[in-house]
Amino acid sequence: MQDPSHTERTEDSDDTVSNESTLPAITDLMQARLTRRDALKGMAAAGVYGLFGCATSAPQSSGPSLTFTESGRFFDETHHVAPGYQVQTLIRWGDPMHAGAPAFRPGQQTAAEQEQQFGTNNDFMAFMPLPRGSNSSTRGLLCVSHEYTLSALMWPGVTAASHLKNATREQCETEMAAHGHAIVEIERSGNAWRAVLDSAYNRRITGGSTVMRAAGPAAGHPRLSTRADVSGTRIIGTLNNCAGGTTPWGTVLIAEENIQNYFTGEASKGREAAAWKRYGIAGQSRYAWGRYFDRFNLNREPNETNRFGWIVEIDPYDPKSVPVKRTALGRFRHECATTAVSHDGRVAVYSGDDERMEYVYKFVTRDRFDAANPQANRELLDHGTLYAARFEADGTMHWLPLVHGEGPLTKANGFENQGDVMIEARRAADLLGATPMDRPEDVEPNPATGNVYVVCTFNERRQSDQVNPANPRGPNRFGHIIEIIPPVVDGKPDQTAVTCRWEFFVMGGDPRNPEHRARYGSSNGAVSATGWIAAPDNVAFDPKGRVWISTDGQEDSAGFSDSVYAAETSGPQRGVTRCFFSSPRGAEICGPTFTPDGKTLFLAIQHPADEKGSTFDKPSTRWPDFKPDMPPRPAVVAVTRADGGDIGS
Ligand code: FEO
Ligand code: CA
Ligand code: CA
Repeated sequence: MQDPSHTERTEDSDDTVSNESTLPAITDLMQARLTRRDALKGMAAAGVYGLFGCATSAPQSSGPSLTFTESGRFFDETHHVAPGYQVQTLIRWGDPMHAGAPAFRPGQQTAAEQEQQFGTNNDFMAFMPLPRGSNSSTRGLLCVSHEYTLSALMWPGVTAASHLKNATREQCETEMAAHGHAIVEIERSGNAWRAVLDSAYNRRITGGSTVMRAAGPAAGHPRLSTRADVSGTRIIGTLNNCAGGTTPWGTVLIAEENIQNYFTGEASKGREAAAWKRYGIAGQSRYAWGRYFDRFNLNREPNETNRFGWIVEIDPYDPKSVPVKRTALGRFRHECATTAVSHDGRVAVYSGDDERMEYVYKFVTRDRFDAANPQANRELLDHGTLYAARFEADGTMHWLPLVHGEGPLTKANGFENQGDVMIEARRAADLLGATPMDRPEDVEPNPATGNVYVVCTFNERRQSDQVNPANPRGPNRFGHIIEIIPPVVDGKPDQTAVTCRWEFFVMGGDPRNPEHRARYGSSNGAVSATGWIAAPDNVAFDPKGRVWISTDGQEDSAGFSDSVYAAETSGPQRGVTRCFFSSPRGAEICGPTFTPDGKTLFLAIQHPADEKGSTFDKPSTRWPDFKPDMPPRPAVVAVTRADGGDIGS
């Protein structure tokens, strides 16, 4: 989701702060941590391991392995990649999903057409090999989330404001159909990828028509009951799917993020009013949907809000499967849901709540993953414990359990049952004392080490008296990345642990400018003039355990297009980011994902041309088609090395 200064501000929910209750003061502990950090600054700069430098995890390589020549800084109409690599546009908004599906008609799309076409504003992506269970890197299912729509770039002759007033019912339905998820079979032949349009796997899941099931502690809760679904278990659609994740049992998890943008009406009245406030649901819908559909009107169907903000599990290998909203993972502005199997077979799911001053969460399953019996894993995400993160000044961090009846999560505080705790996970985490973060986006374990990367994109609203040990810059204009280090049990990371250690991995910004207070791993200062980052958002790990970071908002914070960077995660180059790819202007880059062999990197180019004054009729770029009658189109690109080698080295 883009930063608020763009054209339409459709998703500028992230311009808000809903957490008024827990803005921190500087505690003695925090002060101690900051003082220690300052003392260590000189040591770290001199190459001595300090808060940034401990290569505590299993090293995955003996020296620098990223050998690509860095790409430069750009702000122009097209993308750029490191020399020796090629970029292929694989699938674009409006492209047919099936043989015989209608061709894209720019500006005239109907909902029926869009339901058979690739959605817009692609974000999360997963490559799920075919056949199922294989390690194929040449054939698979590309699973792609479609986060939101931008009316000024979707419809001719409108601005965001005029469209909100004048949108037709058909346009609203088309927008719902452009949301959701797409599953499309792709295959590689030589160095080129193509969508397989006659595949039986191909499927669109949308915001307006796909029937889903709720499961877990909030399923069937009275607060999920509506006139259309008294049972509180049958939900239509998924919205604002941002990043996501995959499970060890071959399903994908998509994350409902900025749900507050879809509901209109008077938000200060009614039994849900306090909860709405905590979730930033203020009746300020960015869509006209509430005019035609009661469920998007707070006053007509107040409980509909409680049916969004969840993690949705999809089995991409079964085109008839019903997506499931897994309520045990809590309700908030989920950025992602990434998984790791722990030492004992239980599974951890990590997620960030992407708003200023919100929290990092993990869910730990009650039961163990059974690789030999896929069916046994189907309900794993319905039973377990959700935790919120508290980062301490001494380099430890604690996972605080959101369990009804424990600590303050009782009837006295308005939690009647575990369903209430999940529906109001934010308030539960407030009461437990979780650490307010600088917009946590991706939270993802490195499969090579088990260390968990927490990506905080930025928080220009954090005041200097609101800093805490894990968010030490107020304001934080460039974002930062934290590394959580779980303890090791039986030689494996214990992802279930309630106490872990943490360190900074990257503090974004230009280290040449002392005002930025930027830092890059243990060899701070070695980052190049084109390699320093701002606004990190999504991460992926290649088969060699190196991290790839895509950004959202560099244009505003640093003056150049959003980019993809790579860095080692151990050794002397740990955390030293290098620029690999740059987006066309107005875009952010989402969903980085590798084929298992590390030879293809898929990138989701989201909202190209999303800039002030840029419209369907006069966009700032017409990427990727560059045809006068074609608007800019969000699209997935496949990046490969011209010589067929590994990406990055
Ligand atoms: Fe949809 Fe947090 O970006
Ligand atoms: Ca994001
Ligand atoms: Ca973002």
